[in-house]
Amino acid sequence: MIQRNPVLDRIAKYPAEVLQQKKRALLAEGVEVFDFSLGDPIEPTDFGIISAFVESVPQVSQYPTIAGEPAFRQACCQWLSRRFDVTLDADSEVIPASGAKEAIFHLPLSFLDARSERRHVLFGLPAYPVYERGTLFAGGEPWPVALSAENGWLLEPWTLDPQKIAQTAIIWINYPHNPTGATAPRDYLQKLVAFCQEREILLCADECYVDMYFEPPTPLSLLQFAKRGVLTFHSLSKRSGMTGYRSGFIAGDGELIATLKRTRANFGVASTNMVQGAAIAAWKDDEHVEKRRAAFRQKRDVLRAFFDEIEMPYEPCSAGLYIWVRTPGDQDALGFAEKLAEHGIVVSPASFHGIDQPYIRLALVPSLQDCRRAVALWQRLIKEDKL
Ligand SMILES: Cc1ncc(COP(=O)(O)O)c(C=O)c1O
Repeated sequence: MIQRNPVLDRIAKYPAEVLQQKKRALLAEGVEVFDFSLGDPIEPTDFGIISAFVESVPQVSQYPTIAGEPAFRQACCQWLSRRFDVTLDADSEVIPASGAKEAIFHLPLSFLDARSERRHVLFGLPAYPVYERGTLFAGGEPWPVALSAENGWLLEPWTLDPQKIAQTAIIWINYPHNPTGATAPRDYLQKLVAFCQEREILLCADECYVDMYFEPPTPLSLLQFAKRGVLTFHSLSKRSGMTGYRSGFIAGDGELIATLKRTRANFGVASTNMVQGAAIAAWKDDEHVEKRRAAFRQKRDVLRAFFDEIEMPYEPCSAGLYIWVRTPGDQDALGFAEKLAEHGIVVSPASFHGIDQPYIRLALVPSLQDCRRAVALWQRLIKEDKL
């Protein structure tokens, strides 16, 4: 028998695939589906971005470089400067990524030594699954730690076992947080940077929702506190409605970026020049992002009003793309999600985010009208005692 990577036996099927299978099965049965499961927005990409993509398609298309086009890197730095008032060097402190997912997945290949004691990668749960999976495929040891509402879903390594901290190579944070929408306060980020710098732990911040906020204060970037020992991960997927383009970038410490350039030259992750052309237009413009925020805010408000009405507690969702809602009577999240799915409302249970907590996640993805229709259906199901 041809052997396969044993890591595949350590991990469950990728949650997004499970949910899409469920959705296909419901559609095949003729059930109308309200899909709140995936963070894959349906609002059209801004026309200026589409035009920039088309105009960037060359007659002869040659291999793109790992370092990316200078104009792309400059546009990223200009956005970082406008948005966070930080100055980065476009040549040495920024590198394109084919979406944040691959960048996160591949990161440990550059900074983990699978044979060393110091091969733990710390992250909080619930979480985007890729921090764990990238660690496992690179031969590292994932160190997931449960987060909780009590301390604002903040990952606080100073409260954890110091011996294990000494064996930690990388810490991941993700604020605004998928799935809870929590954001990181200034003093927390300051303390975390100092903690990691003192111990020479690589601190990685997945900031792909940093522009998806609905009310003040606007989310901060780790780059406002430090560059040394820090990398931040950015994406156009949600900010600019470009999930299909696969475009993002990594920024931070120039020495770390140089290491990434070296590793990433070994696999095919360079961003295509036409995607970079579209991305330049996207990072240069903030107006389309404001329109997107307004659209998501309206959907959030419809859902929050409904959960208030039926007295289902939820996390505030002042940023991000999701509402993290507590199940009625703290019932099992998977069972509750299955009951909703039977009637065409697809949400993701906490277990799909790595933890058994009584929460479900709703992505602000269906149209405003469909959010209203889904809420009406949910209301009817309650009245008919089907939930
Ligand atoms: C927390 C988090 N990080 C990264 C990503 C991946 O982003 P991208 O589409 O840029 O690969 C997602 C996508 O949902 C996410 O939720």
